Amino acid sequence: MKNIVLIGFMGSGKTTIGAHLAKYTGSYLIDTDMLIATQNSQSIKSIFENYGEEYFRKLEAHFIEWAQKSIQNAIIATGGGMPIYNQVKNMGKVFYLKIDFEAIQKRLTQAELASRPLFSNVQKTYELYKCRQDLYAQSADIVIEANQPIDKIVLEILKHTL
Ligand code: S3P
Repeated sequence: MKNIVLIGFMGSGKTTIGAHLAKYTGSYLIDTDMLIATQNSQSIKSIFENYGEEYFRKLEAHFIEWAQKSIQNAIIATGGGMPIYNQVKNMGKVFYLKIDFEAIQKRLTQAELASRPLFSNVQKTYELYKCRQDLYAQSADIVIEANQPIDKIVLEILKHTL
């Protein structure tokens, strides 16, 4: 099996769906934000504050380089900006979890919003969401309608991996 790469806006369910996929397939889940945070011994928010977004994007690029060479049969849940700044297709089969902005807002708790440096102002975040839609679609092999129950999303992704 090729790696399954999940892309999409913040709060689109990449990590949650990735965990379900990992359970069904017996593969490991790699959450790129968690990996980068652990490797740098600080949260993503601190990395943005201490070193800036550009530095964070370099860390993401470094992850992609490594994953292309060294990761197989895994589920990779990416950070929401990874496909915007870097090419993700070579890591595996790319699924874009396409979801309404209203659904994202309903789903994310205050704590989850606070941990996301690019989600501090709703209007600005909505602009970012709109700007990114085409890029997500272009970066994906398959677009998945993510405004539906998790089980359905998971099954749909699995269908494409057979
Ligand atoms: C970002 C999304 C975040 C995280 C960082 C930047 C973005 O990941 O990588 O805060 O540019 O959309 P999630 O999509 O997991 O929230």
